[in-house]
Amino acid sequence: MATGYFFSHRHILGIDHLSADDIDHILTTAESFKEISARPIKKVPTLRGNTIINLFFEPSTRTRLSFEVAAKRMSADTFNISASTSSATKGETLIDTALNIAAMHPDIIIIRHSFSGAPHMLSGYVDAAVINAGDGTHEHPSQGLLDMMTVREHKGRLDGLKIAIIGDILHSRVAHSDILGFTRMGSQVFVHGPSTLIPPDLDKLGATVCTSLKEAVQDADVVMTLRIQKERQNDPLLPSFREYALYYGVTREVASWAKPDGLIMHPGPINRGIELMPDVADGPRSVILDQVTNGVAVRMALLYLVMGNS
Ligand code: CP
Repeated sequence: MATGYFFSHRHILGIDHLSADDIDHILTTAESFKEISARPIKKVPTLRGNTIINLFFEPSTRTRLSFEVAAKRMSADTFNISASTSSATKGETLIDTALNIAAMHPDIIIIRHSFSGAPHMLSGYVDAAVINAGDGTHEHPSQGLLDMMTVREHKGRLDGLKIAIIGDILHSRVAHSDILGFTRMGSQVFVHGPSTLIPPDLDKLGATVCTSLKEAVQDADVVMTLRIQKERQNDPLLPSFREYALYYGVTREVASWAKPDGLIMHPGPINRGIELMPDVADGPRSVILDQVTNGVAVRMALLYLVMGNS
């Protein structure tokens, strides 16, 4: 890390805004926080008196819960709002919702929204720090960071690794954050999926698009499978899920093309039997639940670091 480095970000809107030093600092901070979750009493006073609002306009299990667990482990006061129980159902705009929440003086607002750019827009209207918990098809920075933490934990480094990302890249905010993050940290990212689900210009993000599954997975250090996003398949971009599983699903044979110690990862939730076969998801090389564990540590680090710049 460069001498004189300090973490200068008020908001976490995307990996795109983070330098390699920023990512390294977040991961190192998260690694130091991880042991708190293994203590008998899982609580430190670091964020006592801070108010954190989880504003989720899309469903979530892992991200929402782990931000809440992270905040509570740091003694912050947390409050959850979901679209279905908010006045958004009565037609209130995101900006009006944001201004009303801001009037209650929260310190951090964590937002998930189907609109790409919603966290950026929100950050222009509120004094609170804003953390993007997934915006449309754009970015999911805390997921990218926990993925990098998990790989660094198992491989001891990120530079020089081959990361294969398989599946629906077009709709995947996780893929975008992972490609930006892993390439920034010196990994090489290879992607493969149905051509209708591969966006143009991926090479500009630093990824190599492979024409076969074998080319992407061969000798990979990590095989990252992505969820087929059934809720975002408005156009018929796939013939059928059965065919997808046949040509792009990660089976035991596909996983065997990677290095013998190659990690199997998935951001969740998994469509078992479609993008990832159950025996691979639950197999000895799967680190999918480690990703979830590390999600709490990464989110503790993000809350801590943005409050340090408040
Ligand atoms: N990985 C992820 O974002 O999972 P959730 O949708 O359950 O938060």
